[in-house]
Amino acid sequence: MKARYQMAVVAIICAALVYPVAAQDKAGDGLAVGRQMLAEDNPGDLWTERGKRLFSEKRGPKNASLEHCDLGMGPGVVKGAFARLPRYFADTDKVQDLESRLLTCMVNLQGFKREDLVRARFGNLDRDSDIEALVSYIGSQSNGLRMDVRLAHAKEREMYKAGEYLFYRRSGPLDFACVTCHGESGKRIRLQELPNMTSAKEMREIIATGWPAYRGTHSTVRTMQHRLYDCFWQMRLPDLAFASDLTVAITTYLNHTANGGEIKLPGVRR
Ligand code: HEC
Repeated sequence: MKARYQMAVVAIICAALVYPVAAQDKAGDGLAVGRQMLAEDNPGDLWTERGKRLFSEKRGPKNASLEHCDLGMGPGVVKGAFARLPRYFADTDKVQDLESRLLTCMVNLQGFKREDLVRARFGNLDRDSDIEALVSYIGSQSNGLRMDVRLAHAKEREMYKAGEYLFYRRSGPLDFACVTCHGESGKRIRLQELPNMTSAKEMREIIATGWPAYRGTHSTVRTMQHRLYDCFWQMRLPDLAFASDLTVAITTYLNHTANGGEIKLPGVRR
């Protein structure tokens, strides 16, 4: 046992000596292998299943399901909805992403209080979030389709422009813009790869196979709203308000950039 241990140590040291540069390059590959393993047995599927149940269950003060929720494809139609979001909705006269649209449905159809939903938006180890499960389910119902954010309505184009502006605008105590961290390929903070969001190719991957994603480090599915909240925190900006116009503007910009990407959700992330 001891000899084998020593051999292993020697082997590792040799490898480190022979391939010092290669070993560094391979950090990304190691993460990719981990991602691949998780993707093959994605725990996020449990959230998808729960979301499916929640969607058709009668719930809330009005004892109603979400089967009349219009996500842009007609009441109750979940197939293909994610691929087209964010989009303009005439009833709210707003451009909405999946999370903000779900809030509208859960308040109007089921009678939940908006404040309560927002308070419970992110799950933790003690409590799962219904929104994370619903987004996981609805996202998965576009699997195999391609991102297709159209910007047909004037308000959608306005949101896109605002999102683009926000992506490049420096702000906060650190004077960071999104593009400061996400403007070049091959960068990373410690072992975390920083995706290049000015590359359409990388964006198609991030959006179409990314969020909602099962996050291993959080032991839950997270949505794009949470990802943005996290990056705002990294920029040391004030807490990002859930489903605010600001978040929808950025998501409109990001999702449109990913048009053509083949959807496979929920994703798997660190
Ligand atoms: C201080 C650096 C920093 C800034 C500024 C920043 N982010 Fe991030 N971002 C990160 C890190 C770190 C990750 C996570 C990478 C990982 O864990 O693999 C990340 C991940 C992401 C992801 C998910 C990428 C994926 O692979 O799925 C998105 C989307 C994102 N950021 C959007 C934004 C947006 C939009 C902004 C501006 C509002 C922004 N970020 C600003 C550091 C930053």
